[in-house]
Amino acid sequence: MSASRLKTPACDVLGIEIPIVQAGMATYTSAELVAAVSNAGGLGIIGALGRNTDDLRDEIRRVRALTNKPFGVNHVVCRIDDACVELTLSQRVPVISLSWGHATELTAKAHEAGLKVLHQVTTPEEAGGVAAEGADVIVAQGAEGGGHVGSAMSTMALVPQAVDLVKPVPVLAAGGIADGRGMAAAIMLGAQGVLMGTRFLATVECHGRGHSKDALLNSLGSQTLASKFYDDVLGIQWPGSVVRAIRNPILDEWARRANEWPAKSDELRPQVQSAIDNGDFVLAGESVGLVHEILPAAELIRRIVAEAEALLGTAPHVDSLT
Ligand SMILES: Cc1cc2nc3c(=O)[nH]c(=O)nc-3n(C[C@H](O)[C@H](O)[C@H](O)COP(=O)(O)O)c2cc1C
Repeated sequence: MSASRLKTPACDVLGIEIPIVQAGMATYTSAELVAAVSNAGGLGIIGALGRNTDDLRDEIRRVRALTNKPFGVNHVVCRIDDACVELTLSQRVPVISLSWGHATELTAKAHEAGLKVLHQVTTPEEAGGVAAEGADVIVAQGAEGGGHVGSAMSTMALVPQAVDLVKPVPVLAAGGIADGRGMAAAIMLGAQGVLMGTRFLATVECHGRGHSKDALLNSLGSQTLASKFYDDVLGIQWPGSVVRAIRNPILDEWARRANEWPAKSDELRPQVQSAIDNGDFVLAGESVGLVHEILPAAELIRRIVAEAEALLGTAPHVDSLT
């Protein structure tokens, strides 16, 4: 892809051409997706969550076979797997992506090993904290996002507060962004780019689960729900977060019986796991209502850039970012 007017200092830090980052989404990411995003000029990220070292090594090898562009590996700080982190460092993956919590030692170690640190946060305080730790790029994730999200702030309010607080550290916006309008808006809020999860689930290269892509194509943002149900039932310890998913009969029933599910987790687990595998329980954010087509990742990125560039055409500060 030719050089984009949208190229920001965050791109220089990450070694990419277009400030669009594909979220590390546990085993929802595929090597094909990660490589396609990176080959298109953005940054693809492998999700380490749910992979052991053998799986992760294999995934890194597969991405490297498909691209020579920078990519990342995502680790969730409150659920860190030390062996997988060591592997990420020893493999000299260009970018380590972290989410939630503080990671002072890990940030220093990553820098020593020559990796850039991209750290996702959900509050201005957390943004200030990870900036002080030396994060190279900060992702401000609003509660409208998919999967695990903080319950406190929306993207619209969080992004400019994080930007002001951590300046000159670059901030990317995440949560609710799925098209060029969202990207242009994020840039107007002072973000230097975007990170998207939900929209990348609806790409050709994302493998999906069962008929999960049908659910992505046929849901509105109002049909998502954020709750503790998923973590409680699957026994996942993830303090301070809720999980946003497309509403489904299981979520709806247990939202009505919220006091009862903690005692019934063991009983519910197999049912929830099989609904996930079949694509009947789909993690996604409010931006799901903007998903109308399954596209190759490169085409998706091309369209988002074209739309954002057209919308920002007259915005003076975009030029000053390049
Ligand atoms: C299916 C799914 C799985 C996710 N898994 C992870 C994960 O493993 N690690 C992580 O840092 N974020 C994860 N996220 C959150 C993303 O990093 C990101 O913040 C979010 O997708 C942004 O909002 P959006 O979905 O509206 O684009 C996940 C999101 C989704 C939709």
